[in-house]
Amino acid sequence: MADASVSTMAVFGVPSFCLITGASKGIGRGIALQLAEKVGDNSLFVLTARSEAGLQETRGLVAARRGSGIEVRTVTGDMGNMDALSTTVSDLFDGVDPTKFKHAILVNNAGSLGDTSQAVRDLTDPSVLQDYFGLNVTSAICLTAQFIQRFPEVAGRRRTVVNITTLCGIQPFPYNSVYCTSKAARNMLFQVMALEEPDVRVLNYAPGPIDTDMQADLRANLGDPEMRKMYNDMKAQGKLLSVEATCKVLVKILEEDTYKSGSHVDYYDVCK
Ligand SMILES: NC(=O)c1ccc[n+]([C@@H]2O[C@H](COP(=O)([O-])OP(=O)(O)OC[C@H]3O[C@@H](n4cnc5c(N)ncnc54)[C@H](OP(=O)(O)O)[C@@H]3O)[C@@H](O)[C@H]2O)c1
Repeated sequence: MADASVSTMAVFGVPSFCLITGASKGIGRGIALQLAEKVGDNSLFVLTARSEAGLQETRGLVAARRGSGIEVRTVTGDMGNMDALSTTVSDLFDGVDPTKFKHAILVNNAGSLGDTSQAVRDLTDPSVLQDYFGLNVTSAICLTAQFIQRFPEVAGRRRTVVNITTLCGIQPFPYNSVYCTSKAARNMLFQVMALEEPDVRVLNYAPGPIDTDMQADLRANLGDPEMRKMYNDMKAQGKLLSVEATCKVLVKILEEDTYKSGSHVDYYDVCK
């Protein structure tokens, strides 16, 4: 159940700070576009990823969708570079005045599959694992901690943290060991945070199988032949979901605001 004071505050239509990772393409871009239709004037979007070209494309699409009322900033950075992570995270909040916003939204969306041709028995290189978990776990934790500090609890301001998760975070799939493990770790992290920060609305959203570059990676490289065939069949039969469809559902969940903070909500929980 939503915290009583938070539940009286508007989710959308108010000046909002929206920080979205992995916003250069795919689901991150889709989330930016859907939120752009919902936030109030005088909102600020901070979009981050490694590809400057991708971020600029997203910025252009947001501008085309919304027209005015939103300032869009792009910050290019590698969230997997642990030596630069503190600086990268700090840059995301550079010059941001938290008092200007009635809703602060963080979407932890950036992520990678890792090498899905590898089984657990192949995972002998610690530096590869460090890099993988740096991007997929550590960066989300450090960014979320900074977000909570930069936007402390104040009366009249709502805070929302979304973790883009997956069925793989709650169910094992062969050759997806690091992906499953990182998503399971993140799910737990955000469940813990929901207990520690009752004022923050925390959502673990599993978007379903979406037609993005990540799915193309699975179709080409997944080590399990049966599952690789399943993903290829889904693509061929048009069974993958669109970015737009799943992002609309995410925004609907946020707008209805009835989810238990910290819970895992799947696209298919809503669209059965
Ligand atoms: N597609 C699916 O079926 C599916 C299903 C369930 C969950 N998800 C989750 O949805 C999220 C987005 O996936 P997607 O399908 O949209 O994948 P995608 O098209 O591959 O996009 C991944 C995003 O993450 C960014 N990213 C990757 N490595 C990064 C790094 N080192 N530093 C900063 N940003 C980085 C990418 O930007 P740059 O390359 O520009 O850095 C890109 O914007 C992921 O967390 C994924 O696990 C996807």
